[in-house]
Amino acid sequence: MTVLVDRRDAVAVVTIDRQEALNALDVETLTELCDRLHGLAEDEAARVVVLTGAGDRAFVAGADIKYMGGLGPGEAKEWGALGHEAAGLLEEMPKPTIAAINGFALGGGCELALGCDLRYASSTARLGQPEIDLGIVPGWGGTQRLARVCGLGVAKELILTGRQVKADEALRIGLVDAIADPVLDHALEVAEELAAKSPVALGVAKRLLNLSPSALEREAEEFGELFASEDAKEGLAAFAEKRAPRFTGR
Ligand code: HXC
Repeated sequence: MTVLVDRRDAVAVVTIDRQEALNALDVETLTELCDRLHGLAEDEAARVVVLTGAGDRAFVAGADIKYMGGLGPGEAKEWGALGHEAAGLLEEMPKPTIAAINGFALGGGCELALGCDLRYASSTARLGQPEIDLGIVPGWGGTQRLARVCGLGVAKELILTGRQVKADEALRIGLVDAIADPVLDHALEVAEELAAKSPVALGVAKRLLNLSPSALEREAEEFGELFASEDAKEGLAAFAEKRAPRFTGR
């Protein structure tokens, strides 16, 4: 089991635990995460959900790059859809969701955090969308949610450069709401506060805040199509082989 759920009264803490890969998400882990989130979305006794990563190095270092290296366009679309399901559940379940970002939140990890309603970071956290350096693009909602949370200018800068930001910059650009150590304690404090509010009103507030339109479906589609490119194969293989990629534009 790589996704643990710990109930603390009305607060459910979901911990992704695949520390040997800095909690990067493979099919098994992401499927398990979706199952857990579906369960918590339905469970009225769980008033607030906190998402974090096991250990002190990473929240989630992204989708599993070694797994993605073997995907064709059709499989990549399905992989994109599975991540969209997880981020969508975090965004749409009728109760607050909080990311306690305890280290690297890169690529799909940053996208899961962006699906959450609130994001808190440890002072050691690093966030970013480095997909461009793998010859691909964010595929779990990042192109849409990063722009909604931080503005289009910031989203373009981070997605086109693939640059990682430290906690203090993440706070300055609005990518996280506060920096706290230990971050899980802070997230739990806020979660307990929210658990005492009206779940009906919280659910309606979320629904209204989420009304603005986005092109999430388009993102999933084009993410998959990129897997027909030689650049995607090269970028993903280069990570696994621990070398710099050589992109040719094909
Ligand atoms: C698979 C990963 C991984 C990942 C880390 N690991 N991130 N494996 N997928 N995303 C593995 C490494 O291969 C290594 O295992 C172990 O975790 C420790 O990582 P190191 O690289 O040795 O640690 P360090 O030098 O401290 O560097 C940390 C790091 C680096 C900066 C976070 O690991 C890194 O750049 N990771 C990739 C981050 C990334 O590009 N994420 C976005 C992925 S794309 P071994 O066994 O090799 O020692 C994505 C797309 C989402 O998320 C949308 C999909 C639809």
